[in-house]
Amino acid sequence: MNDYSLLDSGGGRKLERFGKVTLDRPCAQAVWNPAQPKLWKQADAFFTRKNGLEWRGREQLPDSWHAMVNGVKMKLSTTDFGHLGVFPETREMWNWIRETLRAESSKRQSPLNFLNLFAYSGGATLAAAQGGAHCCHVDASKGMVQWARENADLNQLGDHPIRWIVDDCNKFMQREIRRGRRYDAILLDPPSFGRGKSGELYKIEHALIETLELVKAVLSDQPCFVYLTSHTPGFTPIVLKNLLQQLLPKGKLECGEMLLTGAPGVFDVPSGTWSRWMSAAK
Ligand SMILES: C[S@@+](CC[C@H](N)C(=O)[O-])C[C@H]1O[C@@H](n2cnc3c(N)ncnc32)[C@H](O)[C@@H]1O
Repeated sequence: MNDYSLLDSGGGRKLERFGKVTLDRPCAQAVWNPAQPKLWKQADAFFTRKNGLEWRGREQLPDSWHAMVNGVKMKLSTTDFGHLGVFPETREMWNWIRETLRAESSKRQSPLNFLNLFAYSGGATLAAAQGGAHCCHVDASKGMVQWARENADLNQLGDHPIRWIVDDCNKFMQREIRRGRRYDAILLDPPSFGRGKSGELYKIEHALIETLELVKAVLSDQPCFVYLTSHTPGFTPIVLKNLLQQLLPKGKLECGEMLLTGAPGVFDVPSGTWSRWMSAAK
């Protein structure tokens, strides 16, 4: 079930429907012309970064609302930065994670341990839980972890084995390595720039190699996959694939672009990149 759709894009903007709310937001990569200019009148609100960050029409929107995104019910709300609590370009990945974990746990006859790093509002954590995995959700923002927990409740997953961790990802993994805890499947979506729980500066170009080495060290001896995504300019699919290839033992490597997608005839909008490594034993 899905309440998300890309309705149109162009002129540096995207028009998207999130359940009962339609939004017009900036999208630098949509350099083509809009295909359906008349549709854009449907927007309930408009976000711009031209003179500082500004929403227009925000007062008409509910404080929060719910939308089903690829089988996960998400609480959405407009943030001052123009985000909503979901990055819909990741939703195809949620399906892959859910189905891969479901198939692998049925093969192994036991649940897999899934680690979600930089986990934001938890869409991927909840898809993994739906696939039967035991999950560990890590984000440095207390507010985002609280938001993800609300999403778990919305999906009747409040009692599922999910550890909710507010911490810096690298520090958390260092602790897990000392404690001997290991994970069979790991997803990471490192930000270009971020702050850890105690204000630690995270800049992808300096921190990513350390993060990936820690990922390798917390991987179990029966690993299923490592999934790396990025929204950082220059981190193309091949860059991500090279990083995983250099880090991990021989396995199956795939990579591609994350896309915003809509009805037939609507251009797909590239919105980030991904690469995944799957154990050769699979
Ligand atoms: C780009 S968002 C991730 C989006 C998410 N993976 C998704 O697909 O919906 C980046 C997230 O990383 C978190 N973050 C930034 N720096 C961090 C750090 N050093 N340790 C842990 N989380 C961090 C932020 O709080 C934010 O929620």
